[in-house]
Amino acid sequence: MLEKDSEGIAYGNAHYEWGQFDPEAYFQQYYGEPHADDDRVACLTVDVLKRALPEGNELEVVDVGTGPNLIPFFCAAPRARRLTAWEFAESNIAWLEAELKGSALRPQWQHFWGTVRSAYGAGWSLPDDPLPALRERCAITQGSIFDLPPRTWDAATMFFCAESITKRDDEFDAACTAFARCVRSGGTVAAAFLVSSEGYVVADHEFPALRLSAEAIEAVFKPHLDEIVVTPIGIVDREIRSGYSGQVFLSGKVR
Ligand SMILES: C[S@@+](CC[C@H](N)C(=O)[O-])C[C@H]1O[C@@H](n2cnc3c(N)ncnc32)[C@H](O)[C@@H]1O
Repeated sequence: MLEKDSEGIAYGNAHYEWGQFDPEAYFQQYYGEPHADDDRVACLTVDVLKRALPEGNELEVVDVGTGPNLIPFFCAAPRARRLTAWEFAESNIAWLEAELKGSALRPQWQHFWGTVRSAYGAGWSLPDDPLPALRERCAITQGSIFDLPPRTWDAATMFFCAESITKRDDEFDAACTAFARCVRSGGTVAAAFLVSSEGYVVADHEFPALRLSAEAIEAVFKPHLDEIVVTPIGIVDREIRSGYSGQVFLSGKVR
């Protein structure tokens, strides 16, 4: 995978063909067979969002770089009045809109919704089918992570975005900063990051990833968050799916 231009400068977000991102191929590749690591991330996200402030079920929540993934919506829906998907690629936006309009949950989403319901546990009366509530509460917005408005949401989630959209450290920094700052002071962030990835291929198109350690990810968030918790998940020394050999989950409270 080429990482740099002829002058040795690492490729940034604008270099990649996001318009060619194939959502259905991505869905099948990464979520076609539900993986235990994603169950674990869903449970950790629920655990964090359950305790998010302010109390009650009126949170405004954003998920950044949602792509073809409904898990962040499932995790946030029980606590949220409004859910925003902040996604860059038109193809992913169209796919998300169609997925929410669907008459039935795909088996994979049934699996992950089951995981989320169990993670919320007794005392939460959650429906068998989350789609009607999601249709009511979700807004899908086309936007770049670098343009997130500051101090707008009570909580933000992000799964495999800031480190999976660029080969440039300064862009990763800027993306994480914008992500943390889009949440009001005292609000909550929860995010998952690929570790040790060189990039990934979806339907023959190459997309980037930064090779990161758990320490490097935590360091980027330290200026913005209190109560940081970092949890490594399923890190192995081989690729399980394109560009995936484990992840790091991070949560914290925005300063
Ligand atoms: C590796 S995928 C992650 C998708 C999904 N969140 C998941 O958990 O599987 C990276 C996502 O970032 C999106 N993306 C690329 N550039 C972006 C940007 N500048 N701002 C926001 N999202 C971007 C891509 O379209 C894609 O949906």
